[in-house]
Amino acid sequence: MEKSEIIGFLRSEGEERSSLFRRAREVRDQTLGNKVYFRGLIEFSNICSKDCFYCGIRKSNKRVVRYEATDEEILTACRFAWENRFGSVVLQSGERSSPRFVDRVERLVREIKRFSGGELGITLSCGEQSRESYQRWREAGAHRYLLRIETSSPALYARIHPQNSLHTFEKRLEALRLLRETGFQVGTGVMIGLPFQTVEELAADLLFFREIDIDMCGMGPYIEHEHTPLYQYRHLLLPREERFGLALRMIAVLRLLMPDINIAAATALQAIDPAGREKAVAVGANVIMPNLTPCQYRRDYLLYEDKPCLDEDAELCRNCLEARIELTGSEIGYGEWGDSKHFQHRTALP
Ligand code: 5AD
Ligand code: FES
Repeated sequence: MEKSEIIGFLRSEGEERSSLFRRAREVRDQTLGNKVYFRGLIEFSNICSKDCFYCGIRKSNKRVVRYEATDEEILTACRFAWENRFGSVVLQSGERSSPRFVDRVERLVREIKRFSGGELGITLSCGEQSRESYQRWREAGAHRYLLRIETSSPALYARIHPQNSLHTFEKRLEALRLLRETGFQVGTGVMIGLPFQTVEELAADLLFFREIDIDMCGMGPYIEHEHTPLYQYRHLLLPREERFGLALRMIAVLRLLMPDINIAAATALQAIDPAGREKAVAVGANVIMPNLTPCQYRRDYLLYEDKPCLDEDAELCRNCLEARIELTGSEIGYGEWGDSKHFQHRTALP
């Protein structure tokens, strides 16, 4: 698919758009079946050493009450995931790289592997780290890693991050390369509808995913947050419904471009439309991340406004998601890791 064709799809309306959505779903069903996998998401700490201009838990947002879930809380959430046959969990946090933090994550990964007899799959999403830290976490038993590139345009990346050595596009790219070399299944993604972002850049993001040969993708609409620097540009944003529609088209086109990768239905979709994640599943996504973060912390992990599921406990979230997925005519892959077929294909012995 050429860039111009992708741009055409991203702008499509009416019958053209319906046929894009239909084809994306067919491609998913033919390549991966109609199963959707759950990853229990545990946002275990909002302490962050970075200051991204879009993010509600950025270091300089002094209104945020910082927390760190205890080992027991994290393990309880993991046990819930395991007992409910979720197959895997995602441990996500703000970015930190102190030896204490790196040790802690390693210890938690080992403990989760131990109590589940190796059954529970573990995905990490803890930002940019050194090769050594990635290796330690991989050896401890984590096997997937999520690190969004946020945008594949170096110029746009520079506009949405502070200009210092902590926040460079090159470092982000390098981290993705290290993760791949360390043997992780690598997931990345972008925000859709950022201020200053163009449809051309979004098309380039999709080609970038194919170029670096990702295994998994999670991408969702950008949603403004009052206590962040990007909020001043909110007058430049597309209306929320248009950002949402663009995100669905991005998912559908990516499914056509990369039929065998895992694509997550981002939570941010649900901040705009209550059925947002199910709509993403209907156009080619095959992974959903129910929130298992202990309830007392959820209001402190507000990356953006109107984040859903602030009150629901884990059990409620599961019931609610289950009913909704079944409405979309998909089946839930209980008790399976649901690894990226793309990763299996690219690492298969000849
Ligand atoms: N709107 C949408 N997504 C956001 N993220 C951070 N802030 C926002 C926002 N305001 C996303 C980033 C990050 C992921 C964990 O959450 O893409 O990688
Ligand atoms: Fe959280 Fe339904 S997914 S309440």
